[in-house]
Amino acid sequence: MKVVHTIKDLQAELSALKVQGKKVGLVPTMGALHAGHASLVKRSVSENGVTVVSVFVNPTQFNDKNDLEKYPRTLEADCSLLEECGAALVFAPSVSEMYPEPDTRQFSYAPLDTVMEGAFRPGHFNGVCQIVSKLFDAVQPDRAYFGEKDFQQLAIIREMVRQLNYSLEIVGCPIVREEDGLALSSRNKRLSAEERENALNISRTLFKSRNFAATHTVSETQKMVEDAIEAAPGLRLEYFEIVDGNTLQKINDWENTSYAVGCITVFCGEVRLIDNIKYKE
Ligand code: PAJ
Repeated sequence: MKVVHTIKDLQAELSALKVQGKKVGLVPTMGALHAGHASLVKRSVSENGVTVVSVFVNPTQFNDKNDLEKYPRTLEADCSLLEECGAALVFAPSVSEMYPEPDTRQFSYAPLDTVMEGAFRPGHFNGVCQIVSKLFDAVQPDRAYFGEKDFQQLAIIREMVRQLNYSLEIVGCPIVREEDGLALSSRNKRLSAEERENALNISRTLFKSRNFAATHTVSETQKMVEDAIEAAPGLRLEYFEIVDGNTLQKINDWENTSYAVGCITVFCGEVRLIDNIKYKE
């Protein structure tokens, strides 16, 4: 496994491999890697001749400066995990390498990016599209891997690829959870033992709501989740929305869609956690 820090070095490594006819899989990450990221990398390794993993804490997608500063940076440990997973190349650029000048491009995929995370984190998805498009341009992968944990991000990237005619396949990968249900996240490292216990009520509530939804309406299910999170110690609900998995717009009736997903964002202390669950697929 090689670690490169510039686009020039990345492309030099890649062109040698592409000459050998190898398919290239890209896994974009912000580092602080865990088993969720590893599942994407392993999937890519199994489906492509070469897997490139980018590790870059992208400043343009952070609307909260404090969150950007506190974001864990653990490149050495990340590289050991990536080597174990079989990645061929790690691309870990500096901010000035990716943004030699401010990126003035505006990406707008309304109504996908105006709801949920888009409403609560202004500019977030614009920043995600800026960096992901730069990575697609630099790597020119055959496939790129994203987790369903960031359900809205995945939908927006799919739309970007469609609208900009990128010739690559986007592969969505299922959420990896701790044994007790908590969705793996780099942010979990910031939870105290007590907060970690409290955070468990997020996935518990979502799992319960899946059974509840089988015999209740959308609005009853919505209320059940809101009430359970509000009653749980140490949690503050930012939003819970039951949406159509393709359009990300709220649904009123289970019958109106073949793909229903509940997306939630909760503050556990200072830490903002997201999760989601499929009711219908
Ligand atoms: P990051 O949060 O590091 O996540 C990188 C990828 O790992 C994303 O596609 C995310 O959905 C996936 N992932 C994270 N936790 C997961 C879990 N528990 N199960 C399955 N997949 C999981 O998402 C980003 O970085 C950035 O926005 C990025 C796309 C790299 C652009 O900067």
